[in-house]
Parts: sequence; C-alpha cells; structure tokens
Amino acid sequence: MQISDLDKIVAIETQIYTFPWNKQVFTDCLNAKYIAKVLEKGEYLVAYALMSIVLDEANILNICVSPTQQGNGYGEKVLNYLLDLAEINLIQTIFLEVRASNKIAINLYKKLGFNQVGIRKNYYRNSYNLREDALIFTVKRRNY
Ligand SMILES: CC(C)(COP(=O)(O)OP(=O)(O)OC[C@H]1O[C@@H](n2cnc3c(N)ncnc32)[C@H](O)[C@@H]1OP(=O)(O)O)[C@@H](O)C(=O)NCCC(=O)NCCS
Repeated sequence: MQISDLDKIVAIETQIYTFPWNKQVFTDCLNAKYIAKVLEKGEYLVAYALMSIVLDEANILNICVSPTQQGNGYGEKVLNYLLDLAEINLIQTIFLEVRASNKIAINLYKKLGFNQVGIRKNYYRNSYNLREDALIFTVKRRNY
C-alpha cells in the first residue's frame, strides 16, 4: 500500500463501512510502518489489509475487499498472506476485533483457525446510533 493507493482505498472504505477510516488514518498507518498490503487485478484495487506488529504479537487492523469482488476468495487470500507474514516474523499470537454482527468476517476468521477469546461490550457505534459488541479473536502460531 502506497500513498497513491489511498484515494481508491478510501472510496472502497466509504462504500463498505458506516464509519470509514479517512485518508489521514491510512497515512498514519503507513507512516507508522504497519504492514499495509493491497491486492490488485490489473488497474483495479480489489482488497487491502493492515497489520501492526509489536514484539511477538500482531494485530490485524483492517481487512477489506471491494464490494463488487466479495465472495470470490480474495478475503481468504489476503488473510492467508498476513498469516504467512506473521509466520515469517515469528509472531506467536495474532489478534483482531470484529463486530458481533459481521457473520461473513467471523466465518472467514474461524475458517483460518481463529478462536474467540473475549468480548468488548458496546465497543462499536452502529448506524442506528446504538452500540454493538466487539468480539476479540486470536490465532496462535501453531494453528496458522
Ligand atoms: C469479510 C471479507 C474480508 C471476506 O472477504 P471475501 O473475499 O468476501 O471472502 P472469501 O470469498 O475469501 O470467503 C472466505 C470465507 O469467508 C466466509 N464467507 C464469505 N462470504 C460469505 C457469505 N456471503 N456468507 C457467509 N460466509 C461467507 C466463508 O467462510 C468463506 O469460506 P468458504 O468460501 O469456504 O465458505 C469481505 O467480505 C469484506 O471486505 N467485508 C467488508 C469489510 C469487513 O467486514 N472486513 C472485516 C472487518 S473485521
């Protein structure tokens, strides 16, 4: 992921999320040297993902597939790629948070070996200005 990708990324982000990250948030992630990857098909940006690493732990901060490209295996491909990078970096545990209502993402995480280890009650705002729980998932090195 480069600064020149950010207009396309923010366009996807805005289509997908009720509370999208803006360009500045992605710029900060790049400046912080987080692992930041895009998957491209020709000139099209299909998917992107961000992961931070601290010592032997990683946090997946965002993983997103363009709405027209979802359900074609790209999310799984990108997540597998992050797991490969984690292995190369000798990461012991990978964490992520997901909205309790996001069944598609939860299915993907479980498919690739993640387990729910916690819950943050009322962590997210949702579109009705109500609160929604965040589920915390992890996967350990021996399971990915
Ligand atoms: C979640 C997301 C990354 C999944 O990527 P994707 O490319 O659509 O998913 P894939 O085609 O790679 O499917 C991988 C697995 O996800 C699950 N999945 C995908 N689409 C699904 C659907 N419509 N219903 C239920 N499960 C689904 C399945 O477990 C699937 O494995 P299977 O094909 O063996 O059943 C993508 O849908 C997305 O970007 N969603 C919006 C952003 C988001 O919610 N990101 C996660 C924030 S925590």
